[in-house]
Amino acid sequence: MSKKVYIETYGCQMNVADSETVAAIMQSNSFTPVTKISEADIIIINTCSVRDNAEQKIWHRLDFLKGFKKRNKHVKVGIIGCMAQRVADKLLEHEAVDFVAGPDAYRAIPELVNETDIKASHINTNLDIEETYSGIVQYKYGENAISGFVPITRGCNNFCSYCIVPYTRGRERSSSYTDIINEVADLRDKGYKEITLLGQNVNSYYFENRDKKVDFPTLIKMVAEIAPEMRIRFTTSHPKDISDELIEVIAQYDNICNHIHLPVQSGSNKVLKLMNRKYTREWYLERIQKIKSTIPDCGLSSDIFCGFSGETETEFLETLDLMNIVEYDSAFLFKYSVRPDTAAAKNLIDDVSEQEKIERLNRLIELQNQISLKKNKADIGKTLEVLVEGFSKRSKDYLFGRTQQSKVVVFADNNFKVGSFINVKITDVSSATLKGIAIN
Ligand code: 5AD
Ligand code: SF4
Repeated sequence: MSKKVYIETYGCQMNVADSETVAAIMQSNSFTPVTKISEADIIIINTCSVRDNAEQKIWHRLDFLKGFKKRNKHVKVGIIGCMAQRVADKLLEHEAVDFVAGPDAYRAIPELVNETDIKASHINTNLDIEETYSGIVQYKYGENAISGFVPITRGCNNFCSYCIVPYTRGRERSSSYTDIINEVADLRDKGYKEITLLGQNVNSYYFENRDKKVDFPTLIKMVAEIAPEMRIRFTTSHPKDISDELIEVIAQYDNICNHIHLPVQSGSNKVLKLMNRKYTREWYLERIQKIKSTIPDCGLSSDIFCGFSGETETEFLETLDLMNIVEYDSAFLFKYSVRPDTAAAKNLIDDVSEQEKIERLNRLIELQNQISLKKNKADIGKTLEVLVEGFSKRSKDYLFGRTQQSKVVVFADNNFKVGSFINVKITDVSSATLKGIAIN
């Protein structure tokens, strides 16, 4: 009987996509992916290193797995993802861990699982600039999957001074556009309704061969054209690459969702410079203006963190001010966490106290909640197209789905099928969700 592999995913959407790639690799090596840890022969934990608390969560999970392995002696545990790359040796010292594989070493996992030699041979953390997992069709969990991720770039070259990603995921590389188009066509033919093109800096996509030079606006046009019935999303965009051409392509194609996730990180030029973000506040706000004037109903979201080195109350207030100007529909908000070996860790002093970071984070959250509520209230009375995703968490009498702008909408179930597009008239809102009545 084939061995069963259970994969647990932490962190970003890229990790969700990578777990599906790993499941596919395992399946083609005669392992069976399962969704219950109790069934597992092999447990794989896909980890995140972006902030210290993400890593702490994994160490706690490993303490649980140590006990789990005592009760289930045949089980092997592997750690993959960014933490596997960053602290491989330390992970292997943990009693629960049998093998470690970094983000470019996933094709080696079946071998690592089968090794019975000493622990040292159970590490593979070679970063490989060629690896795009070309030719692997991701394994999709669940029969009714309607949304899929398609990674189009891997790694990052930006070296934002606070960020661990360029070290754990290596240099940026783009998949060939033919691989991407084939994968999208495959998901379309399987009945998927939505795909999200993924990359750490997705809009710096660039691939050339003898026939063609393909940049991100060209690629997303190709994708929109081969899947006209599907919603196309993309994340994460770097502000430096949000060109007029890209904004115009989003406006031009109905099936490219009117939503841009455009992390600003800070509203202060002094802090942006220390972060090595390569744009100014003015430049960013001009790009936002261009988006708003070209795509009036464009959803906007951001990543912002407070307490970076050099951020005094003055710089922090500039961030709040920028949030008030842009009026993001939603934002992921964090406090700065020093990551070892990054430029900021080496060259800057972590000079904002933990208490001050927490206070500022609470102010970020409070302001964004107010803005989200205001933005959502402006949707009351509108009829919005919603892709039905499943039952609402609170009640089986209600379904939920998302608008093009990526806002969650809850509405009474009227035998709508998951995966159908319906029109919902918005009647009530909170800062997190819209509620409404389906009108078809
Ligand atoms: N500390 C806090 N937040 C960070 N991010 C990245 N690195 C750090 C760090 N060291 C945030 C950024 C990024 C998001 C994925 O995580 O906002 O966009
Ligand atoms: Fe990290 Fe900056 Fe690359 Fe995003 S763009 S992954 S924040 S280095």
